[in-house]
Amino acid sequence: MAAKKIIGAVLGLGITFGFCVFVYAITNNKVVIGYNQNYEPTQPIPYSHALHAGKLGLNCKYCHTTAEISRHASVPPLNVCMNCHLTVRQVNGKDSPYIAQLVDAYMNDKPVQWQKVNLLPDHVKFNHAPHIKAGKQCQECHGPVETMDRVKQYQSFSMGYCVNCHRRPENNAPTNCSTCHY
Ligand code: HEC
Ligand code: HEC
Ligand code: HEC
Ligand code: HEC
Ligand code: HEC
Repeated sequence: MAAKKIIGAVLGLGITFGFCVFVYAITNNKVVIGYNQNYEPTQPIPYSHALHAGKLGLNCKYCHTTAEISRHASVPPLNVCMNCHLTVRQVNGKDSPYIAQLVDAYMNDKPVQWQKVNLLPDHVKFNHAPHIKAGKQCQECHGPVETMDRVKQYQSFSMGYCVNCHRRPENNAPTNCSTCHY
């Protein structure tokens, strides 16, 4: 009996210790758990941020209107695209098949299945609003999107990545576990 209790206690301590080491490791970027960095899915229509946000200089918030006020920075509905593409149909003097695809989707009410690029696991709470309110630029977390033809996940979004920024004194952001976990 006594031997079993001792073995149980040792095992319990071992597991607790192991968990603490694990938490230390992920919090300090010793182990990076962030599976999605550089993920760059092909989109159903080759929409280019380099063209629209770079060359044409459109503001990010022209399309991602809810970043300031909500958890999600919504992807725009097609009528936002049609502000221009009701008339813009050509690229370099030639009809663009991709704009034709966009117009077809709009006219026939077929949603475009944009592939999600940035993805956090369900157990993590993230919200755009407090970051934008604190003056963080989109590029800090998403990189130079205005130079990307195709968007990719720029940062690891590992726990260490988030916590390191929260810890910087000028940010005054909370670091207790319940800030980011349910
Ligand atoms: C003309 C509209 C438009 C503008 C302007 C625009 N975007 Fe986008 N954005 C989109 C569309 C449409 C998608 C979905 C397709 C894709 O991923 O390319 C998207 C996707 C994204 C994604 C990936 C979303 C995901 O699935 O994780 C990020 C990040 C992003 N945009 C950031 C920005 C930033 C930063 C700017 C400003 C530099 C910007 N966007 C300007 C329309 C726009
Ligand atoms: C502090 C880091 C950070 C900043 C600043 C930030 N984002 Fe994000 N963004 C993220 C993360 C993390 C995700 C993935 C969220 C998820 O999966 O729940 C994301 C997701 C997105 C998405 C996909 C839709 C969604 O909300 O899940 C779009 C679009 C986007 N961001 C656009 C923007 C734009 C535009 C700005 C600037 C106005 C911006 N982001 C600023 C970290 C950030
Ligand atoms: C402010 C006006 C404006 C908005 C809004 C806009 N576009 Fe464009 N888009 C243009 C212009 C101008 C061109 C052609 C650029 C050129 O001649 O190189 C273009 C080109 C394109 C092309 C053609 C690329 C090619 O090489 O054939 C696609 C696809 C496209 N846009 C998709 C979209 C989508 C999707 C949206 C909405 C998320 C959108 N655009 C919103 C102005 C706009
Ligand atoms: C570039 C620095 C930076 C990065 C990167 C960052 N944050 Fe933040 N975060 C902040 C700042 C600044 C605040 C706002 C603090 C305040 O003023 O209350 C904040 C606030 C938050 C809040 C709201 C806290 C509250 O209760 O008020 C959550 C949740 C959050 N961040 C989660 C995340 C997650 C998850 C990630 C990683 C995907 C992340 N953050 C990455 C700087 C950052
Ligand atoms: C600023 C936000 C933030 C804070 C604070 C935070 N975490 Fe996390 N945590 C994350 C993110 C983001 C991930 C997901 C990384 C991934 O899987 O891509 C994560 C993942 C985890 C995981 C799972 C690793 C996995 O397999 O995905 C555990 C366990 C965890 N955190 C524990 C904690 C504990 C314990 C604390 C308090 C000491 C804490 N976290 C504080 C953001 C945070």
